[in-house]
Amino acid sequence: MSESPTAAPAKEVVLLKGDGIGPEIVSAAVQVLDRIAKRYGHDFIFSEYPIGGRAVEICGNPLPQETLAACRAADCVLLGAVGGPAYDDLPVHQRPETGLLALRSALGLYANLRPVRLFPQLAQASPLHMERIAAGFDILIVRELTGGIYFGERGRRQGSFGEEAFDTESYSKTEIERISHVAFRAAQSRNKNLISVDKANVLESSRLWRETVHRLSSEYPEVTCVNMLVDNAAMQLIRDPAQFDVLLTSNLFGDILSDEASQLTGSIGMLASASVGEGSFGLYEPIHGSAPDIAGKDIANPIATILSAAMLLRHSLQLEDEAIAIETAVESVLDQGLRTADIAVHDSAAIGTQAMTEAIVAAL
Ligand code: IPM
Ligand code: MG
Repeated sequence: MSESPTAAPAKEVVLLKGDGIGPEIVSAAVQVLDRIAKRYGHDFIFSEYPIGGRAVEICGNPLPQETLAACRAADCVLLGAVGGPAYDDLPVHQRPETGLLALRSALGLYANLRPVRLFPQLAQASPLHMERIAAGFDILIVRELTGGIYFGERGRRQGSFGEEAFDTESYSKTEIERISHVAFRAAQSRNKNLISVDKANVLESSRLWRETVHRLSSEYPEVTCVNMLVDNAAMQLIRDPAQFDVLLTSNLFGDILSDEASQLTGSIGMLASASVGEGSFGLYEPIHGSAPDIAGKDIANPIATILSAAMLLRHSLQLEDEAIAIETAVESVLDQGLRTADIAVHDSAAIGTQAMTEAIVAAL
């Protein structure tokens, strides 16, 4: 295929399967990407590297040098999930999560995009009453990913009550500006409605966040920008999710609100994400975790990872038609009534990870 003078150059995709259900869901997404490559005449070169607990087992480091170097040299990265109870007692520098955070930071992926949209076929799987979601919802959570309390100073010390622990939330103007630009631009290309979520009634870092977002809003006059306190936002997401278009927030608030919002779509097993910085390079991963309790049982929902692969095609490889083809194939299996256990309603029969993957591949 690569012999043809008009063929596009091969694209290098690093696979980081990780822990728990990571290997099964990444392999599901690769089956879908292989089908796309065949159908559209692309050449994707996959290479696999360890991360997280698996990497600690192999070499004692949750983000080995070779893994980081391979990601840097590739066009994009597809990741499964990291973590699990087997690694909970490791020292912090060996925790699987430390590897993932170091990867995001080292690659400069400060913007995490998490689309939260209700597939109408799954309305019954949502915990919300039908009347509340009759109009559907389509939210893009823009989560700051390389700053805030995840990366602030932390430690243990003696305080007035004896031993204490601390973590620090701090944001620079520059960090807030660059993530805000991502959110404003996204809003501009969507419904022009931006809600910036903070805790400015208590936190100084949130007050700088609010000031900075407000200042930038004049550069995007067509976007309506409002602030919302995070406690209120947690409530509003459940009360009326359709009021949100783009939701911009910090690393920690985005982590929490995206899990909350995901359940409104029926299952966290449906939500994809893209982590991006400058340029087209990106890291794509489902927002859910490694679900060690169901690993290896062929019951995990592969759709979040498959939709992450669609985001990979769109953002890193500029293959919009191919991304839409995957999204349409997912809709069509949902139309056929196929469901993994997490999105099956009542006692309707559920299919496994591999059967769901094959159905999506067949729909392509
Ligand atoms: C996520 C995850 C990670 C995070 C964990 C695994 C470190 O929960 O991507 O949402 O908190 O960012
Ligand atoms: Mg999370």
